Amino acid sequence: MAKRIDGKAFAQGVRERVGEAVSTLQRDHGLTPGLAVVLVGEDPASQVYVRNKGKQTVEAGMKSFEHKLPDTTSETELLALVEQLNADPDVHGILVQLPLPDQIDSHAVINAINPDKDVDGFHLINVGRLSTGASGLVPCTPLGCLMLLKDELGDLSGKNAVVVGRSNIVGKPMAALLLAESCTVTIAHSRTQDLADVCREADILVAAVGRPQMIPGDWVKPGATVIDVGINRVEGDEGKTRLVGDVDYASAEAVAGAITPVPGGVGPMTIACLLRNTVQAACAANGIAFDLD
Ligand code: GUN
Repeated sequence: MAKRIDGKAFAQGVRERVGEAVSTLQRDHGLTPGLAVVLVGEDPASQVYVRNKGKQTVEAGMKSFEHKLPDTTSETELLALVEQLNADPDVHGILVQLPLPDQIDSHAVINAINPDKDVDGFHLINVGRLSTGASGLVPCTPLGCLMLLKDELGDLSGKNAVVVGRSNIVGKPMAALLLAESCTVTIAHSRTQDLADVCREADILVAAVGRPQMIPGDWVKPGATVIDVGINRVEGDEGKTRLVGDVDYASAEAVAGAITPVPGGVGPMTIACLLRNTVQAACAANGIAFDLD
């Protein structure tokens, strides 16, 4: 039976370290890191995320600035808000919640954020920094996955890593991070031939496709470490919905060496890493050495 990787407990530890770093910054430098979160429209899932981000930002001792705009907001209006936040010295991190309504080009908005305030790590400059090994802000969910993997396995060098999913938010930055750790990395996706066989080669299997329980246990190499990024809502008993991952947990846990559950695995790590990135950005903006590990 696989070890269950407790992302919830790990994320709490990260948030505690962030809180301690914030106290030190306030005491020694009179600096309180600030995070601005922008939500356009009324998407219920996004509203929940944004609320949780604001709550956890305040709990870590940081300033939280929430901007809620109607779903009729134009790109010009949103770009004007981004400019205002770029210029605000109390704002060290800016996150524009995705997806954005159709009338807004999300690439244009992301690339208008000052890259040094881009705590999502989605700006082209940060993508370039990550892929060339320069220091910068790294996307939160893949960063959280990497932290869990290093905690579980220590040195990752030489391991076969398979990332299923090629999104800009998770799959591609995850692959870049694993490559930087000297893994042999394969990015698989919906057009990959013999996906099952590709997955069976993985010492590290990261599932980020957004399809409920698509990866069964017999695609998992015995002893592999499985990181399930999927958060899918499916019909459960008595008409209630429940959350499942991209991996079929019940069959995979019988084969894997270690596996993240859904919920309580990768999910809580995302906001913890967002808080960490905000502290990193605040330190960099003020010429303060950053050490949160
Ligand atoms: N929507 C889903 N995940 C994310 C994320 O990590 N960042 C932002 N900005 N929006 C998201």
